[in-house]
Amino acid sequence: MTRFHPTATTTDWPPRCRPRRLRRHAWLRALVAENRLSPADLIWPVFVQAGRGTRTPVGSMPGVERLSVDLLVEAVGQAQSLGIPAVAIFPVTPPELKTPDGDEALNPDNLACQAIRAIKADVPGIGVICDVALDPYTSHGQDGLVRDGYVVNDQTVEVLCQQALVQARAGCDVIAPSDMMDGRVGAIRRALDAAGFTEVAILSYAAKYASAFYGPFRDAVGSASNLGSGDKKTYQMDPANGDEALREVALDLAEGADLVMVKPGMPYLDIICRVKQTFGVPTYAYQVSGEYAMLRAAADHGWLDRDKAILESLLAFRRAGADGVLTYFAVEAARLLRNAG
Ligand code: PBG
Repeated sequence: MTRFHPTATTTDWPPRCRPRRLRRHAWLRALVAENRLSPADLIWPVFVQAGRGTRTPVGSMPGVERLSVDLLVEAVGQAQSLGIPAVAIFPVTPPELKTPDGDEALNPDNLACQAIRAIKADVPGIGVICDVALDPYTSHGQDGLVRDGYVVNDQTVEVLCQQALVQARAGCDVIAPSDMMDGRVGAIRRALDAAGFTEVAILSYAAKYASAFYGPFRDAVGSASNLGSGDKKTYQMDPANGDEALREVALDLAEGADLVMVKPGMPYLDIICRVKQTFGVPTYAYQVSGEYAMLRAAADHGWLDRDKAILESLLAFRRAGADGVLTYFAVEAARLLRNAG
């Protein structure tokens, strides 16, 4: 695309080009706005816990609660009425069900599957996305099988394929592998197709970095204490790398990913931009738990204007090239957008 750049010279005085002209009135700013944010751009990540009628706040994410399936269904219904198109489900597995190999991931009646079925039954119009990775279920908090102290790739992928099938059978619309094993998108696609789930889509966490910003999430699902001082650097990406993200996305697309994600969000806007410009495929950003915690904490102290900071942070993802954003602010932001619109 050719773009117009004015050829003003320093001797133009008074200035011939006055960009401020287009900023003078609200109607004119609206007319020239290049990007917009709508509730339809938001995906709401939710935490589901065992029990009935129970809600437990997440300490490091004020305003976010883990909900039992019945309360979750209500909350998801509200999200849908606000125009949010999809939710992403994260289970808080009771500690006694966690094992070294994360067997509970394959239980067709685990919390994630219960939540999928309940939402599909009661809020049929909303999209249900589910992570594929073993960390909510493993006693060591790693995303895969650990053998001799290393997260092994190919054996993990075999389990992930089964996990994807369990979730697809429960009615999940979109399988989201967040584990960063090599070759898992292609393997999951083949497994889904072979079982007749050709219409179940894959949203790949294609460029997922080994990030400190996942801390509050790990508190929320209870994997922080399992992981201890461990980290995920042998499979999640090095924050130093950008070109590598493009290779990861290229591989996942070649393997059959329908949608791709960059994660975390705000510190990685350059990656979102490069991915969108390079591939032009549906691209999503995850405004992760640590980003939520930062914005929320500053706002709670009165150091940031909460509503404005939320909407600006989300609009920035759109400007960078994201088609949508996973955000814990989804419901709040959708309300703000509705009231503004
Ligand atoms: C699990 C997973 C994580 C997140 C989403 N899926 C944590 C991790 O990789 O350790 C993080 C989400 C967030 O921080 O909001 N593989």
